Amino acid sequence: MNSFGRLFRVELFGESHGPALGCLVDGCPCGLPLAAEDFEADLARRRAGASGTTPRREADLPELASGVYEGRTSGAPLCVLFRNGDARSGDYELFARVPRPGHADFTASAKYRGFNDPRGSGHFSGRLTLPLVAAGVVAKKLLPALRFETRLVEAGGREDAAAAIAEAAAAGDSVGGLVEIRVEGLGAGLGEPFFDSLEGLVAHAAFAVPGVRGIEFGDGFRAAAMRGSEHNDRFVGAYGLTATNHAGGVNGGISNGSPLVLRVAMKPTSTIAASQATFDLASGAMTELSAPGRHDACIALRGAVALEAAVAVALADLSLIARSQEGSA
Ligand SMILES: Cc1cc2nc3c(=O)[nH]c(=O)nc-3n(C[C@H](O)[C@H](O)[C@H](O)COP(=O)(O)O)c2cc1C
Repeated sequence: MNSFGRLFRVELFGESHGPALGCLVDGCPCGLPLAAEDFEADLARRRAGASGTTPRREADLPELASGVYEGRTSGAPLCVLFRNGDARSGDYELFARVPRPGHADFTASAKYRGFNDPRGSGHFSGRLTLPLVAAGVVAKKLLPALRFETRLVEAGGREDAAAAIAEAAAAGDSVGGLVEIRVEGLGAGLGEPFFDSLEGLVAHAAFAVPGVRGIEFGDGFRAAAMRGSEHNDRFVGAYGLTATNHAGGVNGGISNGSPLVLRVAMKPTSTIAASQATFDLASGAMTELSAPGRHDACIALRGAVALEAAVAVALADLSLIARSQEGSA
C-alpha cells in the first residue's frame, strides 16, 4: 500500500490541488523537541523561485495537527499538514482526457478507473514531496549525530547545471539531473542482511520521489567494469578504517563506518511545451499535446532535498530497528 517503514512508519496524503496535504508519522518516539520553525530550513530548499523551477507560489506553512504537545512529540501519530493555496486546476483538465507522455496520467487513470483526482497531477504531483521533506525533518531529529550533504552534480549530463537548465527551459523543454547524497556519522553496524539491507531500504524510500530513475551506491554501475583489486576498500587501521570508499559505506547490507554515498538519477520533467504524440482516453484517437501549465524545467533542483528526506526516513527506521535489537543477547 502507501506507507514506508517498520518502526518509523510514514504515510503521505493529499493532492496537489486538494484542500491540503501532509504526512503521518507513526512510531515517532516521544519527547523530541519539535516546532513549526524546525521545518523551515529544509522546506526553503524545496521551495520554488529559483530559475528552472515552477512559477507556482505556496506558503508551505507546516501545521502540527497531531502528535506534538507543549513543544515535544507526544508519542501519538504525528501529523504535519500543509494547506494548498496557489492552485490553477484549469491547466490540468486536458490531461485527464489526453495523458501526458512520461507522466502518471495514463497509469493513474488505468489503476483507479478515472476516479483519481487529475488536478495538478493529484496524488502523483511532485508537490507530495513537500510532506516527504517534513517527514525527513522529523527523521533527522532522531538522528542528531548524522551530517547530510546533498548536491546537484549535473543536469542534462553537464556540470554547468544552470546553463543546461536555462537552455532547456528556453526551448520549452526539460532536463534530467544527477543528485549526490553523502551521510556522515552512521558508524558501523546499521542495516540488516538481505531484504532490509541499508541500500535496499534507502533505495525503497528514495524511489518514492517522483521522477527517480536510478540509484547507485559508491562506484555503483562503474563497479561492473572494475577489478577486485581496484574496487576493494583496503583496511588501513583498526575498527574497519579504509583509505577509499568504493563501496559507498555499505557491505553486506550493513553500514561499514565510511560515509554512505549514493547518486540518484532524476529524469527530465515530463510536462513540456514541445508537441508530443499521445491519445484521447475517451475516443482512443491519436492526437498531439503541447502541455500548458506551470512546471519545473529540472525536477532534480527541488527533488534533491526530498531525496535527502527519503534517505533520512529510511535511516530513522533502521536506527529504531537497531535500538529495538539492543540487549537482545
Ligand atoms: C520536486 C518535484 C517537482 C516536480 N514537478 C513536476 C512538474 O512541474 N511537472 C511534471 O510533469 N512533473 C513534475 N515532477 C515529476 C512528476 O511528479 C513525476 O514524473 C510523475 O509523478 C510520474 O512519476 P515517475 O516519473 O516517477 O514515473 C516533479 C517531481 C518532483 C520530485
